[in-house]
Amino acid sequence: MHKVLIIDDDESLCYGLKRSLGKYYEIFTAMDLEGAYALIKAEKFGIIFLDYRLGDENGLDVLRSIRALTTDIPIVMLTAHGSTELILDAIRMGAVDFLTKPAETKQLIEIIEKYSSSLGHCFDTENFEILSEVPYNADAVIAVSNEMKDVLKNIAIISATDTPVLITGESGTGKDVASNLIHRYSRRKDNPFININCAAIPENLLESELFGYVKGAFTGAYASNPGKFQMADKGTIFLDEIGDMPLSLQGKLLQVLQDGRIQRVGDNKFNKVDIRIISATNRNLRELVANGSFREDLFYRINAFSIEIPPLRKRVKDVWPSALHFVKAFSDTMGKDICCVEKSARELLEKCQWSGNIRELKNIMAKSVAIANSGAVTKDVVASAIGLESASEQEPCRNLSGYFMTKYNENILVRAVEEVEETLIKSVLDECGNNNSVAAKTLGISRVTLYEKLKKYGLSE
Ligand SMILES: Nc1ncnc2c1ncn2[C@@H]1O[C@H](COP(=O)(O)OP(=O)(O)O)[C@@H](O)[C@H]1O
Ligand SMILES: [Mg+2]
Repeated sequence: MHKVLIIDDDESLCYGLKRSLGKYYEIFTAMDLEGAYALIKAEKFGIIFLDYRLGDENGLDVLRSIRALTTDIPIVMLTAHGSTELILDAIRMGAVDFLTKPAETKQLIEIIEKYSSSLGHCFDTENFEILSEVPYNADAVIAVSNEMKDVLKNIAIISATDTPVLITGESGTGKDVASNLIHRYSRRKDNPFININCAAIPENLLESELFGYVKGAFTGAYASNPGKFQMADKGTIFLDEIGDMPLSLQGKLLQVLQDGRIQRVGDNKFNKVDIRIISATNRNLRELVANGSFREDLFYRINAFSIEIPPLRKRVKDVWPSALHFVKAFSDTMGKDICCVEKSARELLEKCQWSGNIRELKNIMAKSVAIANSGAVTKDVVASAIGLESASEQEPCRNLSGYFMTKYNENILVRAVEEVEETLIKSVLDECGNNNSVAAKTLGISRVTLYEKLKKYGLSE
């Protein structure tokens, strides 16, 4: 039950509130500052109501001194004559809200429910995971499952060396996190860590970005640029999405890896660099090697040691600890006082497929914290955060159903399917230059079926 402290020198008011609110909360009252201090030191309150005029004391001074004692307990000012300035001063000084006396019971309950923090022990440990009891460190990499522990062990071993590492795993599994850790725990930690997303830099700029250029090497090269490899000298270079590196550059990269020298665009001399290479990809490099889009020799070079981060759905043990970690983190950064997470949310989270892995879980927990309107992230809150996510993914479909429902009055399904079918067939035919057999294959239907449908929609000449 929430513990509520009312500090007011009006005895009948204190008595009245005790009677009206006592059914719902554990009410404590203090009629002067000393009494209030003693109670605040002895009890953990979920919320404090403070009268603006307490005897001869100036309300703002009282607020300030109580605030100093209880930085994390919400304080609501009770004021008989609510001048705007006074309210603004109080809010500026840390009061979360104000109420004009006489306040109705309903209003008080609303305020208590809105602001009460965990300190009132309103959430029982049987049904709620209390965050203050969960070890927390903002930079922690969560690794509770054996799979993730193995990843950490590998990082510990390999970070002590200069061996090139290839990190693989689906998007959102933590490849960036892993590469950062390797650098942070290596002897290069005080030197640069340069991150290059091979998929994000346009092919024609990648070479000059990586290897640098000399002034006048090409139109627009007004000044020389050292390039990322030179900038990473004595540090680590992280080649993210390496599977997307164009073939033309793969050879150059291989050369750097082999002899540790780089040549800037437009330069005829080579510079020596001392770099450690970490690469990452969510693609299957062996397949890319097999189909000729990734050089085999480069593959072996960057893959001296490989670390595979399993998808979240294969290491369910990490789901709940990660969820709690993110709630704590977002509660801090969003300035919300979330103290606990309902334990029944666990099953819900562990059942998810997490195709977006930890990144997706992190997003869901951010949404949960944002929409939680009490000190707890409840199962319902998590469920609606998951719903919000999937609703936004389903948006095109929803729009589509709205479209068909307004367009057709009857036989909606049949007509919608026909319309989609006709449009798809047209687009695919366009795409493949009206080659019927390619179109049939792309659509996944036989040529006979395609001809029938072309006839049906009047598309065959
Ligand atoms: N084990 C982990 N513990 C805590 N946070 C993690 C962990 N793995 C990933 N994250 C977080 O999840 C998000 C996605 O991780 P990231 O390394 O960018 O994935 P990837 O590079 O594989 O797509 C990041 O915000 C990251 O901080
Ligand atoms: Mg990444």
